[in-house]
Amino acid sequence: MKAIQHIGYGEISESIKFSEIEKPTINKDEVLIEIFAASVNPLGIKVLNGKWKTKKNYTLPATLGYDVSGKIVAVGEHVTGFNIGDDVYTYHNKQGTFAEFVAISQDNISLKPKNLNFEEASSLPLVSLTALQALQRGQLKFGDKILIHAGSGGVGSIAIQIAKAKGAYVYTTTSTDNVEWVKALGADRVIDYKTEDYKTIVKDLDIVLDPLGDPYTEDAFKVIKEGGKVISLVGPPDEETAKKMGANQDDLKQKRQKITEQMELKSASYSLVILKANAKQLDEITQLVEAQKIQPVIDKVFPFKDTLKAFLHVKNGRTKGKVVIKMK
Ligand SMILES: NC(=O)c1ccc[n+]([C@@H]2O[C@H](COP(=O)([O-])OP(=O)(O)OC[C@H]3O[C@@H](n4cnc5c(N)ncnc54)[C@H](OP(=O)(O)O)[C@@H]3O)[C@@H](O)[C@H]2O)c1
Repeated sequence: MKAIQHIGYGEISESIKFSEIEKPTINKDEVLIEIFAASVNPLGIKVLNGKWKTKKNYTLPATLGYDVSGKIVAVGEHVTGFNIGDDVYTYHNKQGTFAEFVAISQDNISLKPKNLNFEEASSLPLVSLTALQALQRGQLKFGDKILIHAGSGGVGSIAIQIAKAKGAYVYTTTSTDNVEWVKALGADRVIDYKTEDYKTIVKDLDIVLDPLGDPYTEDAFKVIKEGGKVISLVGPPDEETAKKMGANQDDLKQKRQKITEQMELKSASYSLVILKANAKQLDEITQLVEAQKIQPVIDKVFPFKDTLKAFLHVKNGRTKGKVVIKMK
């Protein structure tokens, strides 16, 4: 089968290539999915740069891609919840969805929302699980005031909609061109970072969701209330996350020093969220989509043959929602 593989580190154009590889076989708990669409995430760029490894023993060549939607074409003998012919979607934490087929454990897949086509469905798993897990880490509740930075990004555009569905008051930041469509996602106050300084507009927030990193992570403490929560997707690992990652605590203490000082001043909390595959949570997303509480936001759909162009487009960092690769 055809697959897009990671073959080296460096320039993206030299790091990936089309390969002809063996079609995967399934074990007893897996299903084989014929892939109709997949989507590109900044995480994929970090993998290509060597800044992130999907697993400890990550070796090249490796088939790229985390998000997938498609049809089940074979099921292992222990698979009970799914049948051949089911339309499914998921975030595949082991990577390998930029291909014609992928084998995934039945525990990690969900039925595709009935009201979405395959391209739309493939745009959702990684970003919607990230958004949901970040909002849950922040214990977002009805009436909370939250600032979601980069509301026009893959994660931000879904986080806004989930936070609104949960009854929060949502502030978000984006640039001038995106203000109107981001407002239409339901954000209560869209702050145009080209013309406004969010730090003079928001204060006493319950939560800040930070997908941008330095200086936004530290500055988040200036706009939260006493006891507020800063949830980052890209900042330094908090102590608990660092322990789980087996990271060097002394190095991290230094990196976190300014954050720690701010936390103490505001009696606040800080967490780095690292997304996990979770089919139950993806089922929750499916329900929100089918209830029309959230909708996918797609910037552009590229044919499979143009996957490199899709990567380069995401690398620019200016995408409006998600970039999708159409296989079928
Ligand atoms: N920890 C995890 O598990 C996890 C999971 C998912 C993602 N992430 C990370 O989170 C980050 C965001 O992911 P994503 O998929 O949302 O990225 P993305 O879709 O590539 O984000 C692009 C968007 O960011 C906006 N943006 C850039 N600079 C901005 C600024 N200074 N203020 C406000 N908006 C700004 C851009 O809007 P403008 O063009 O208007 O500037 C654009 O719409 C990435 O670094 C990703 O790797 C981490």
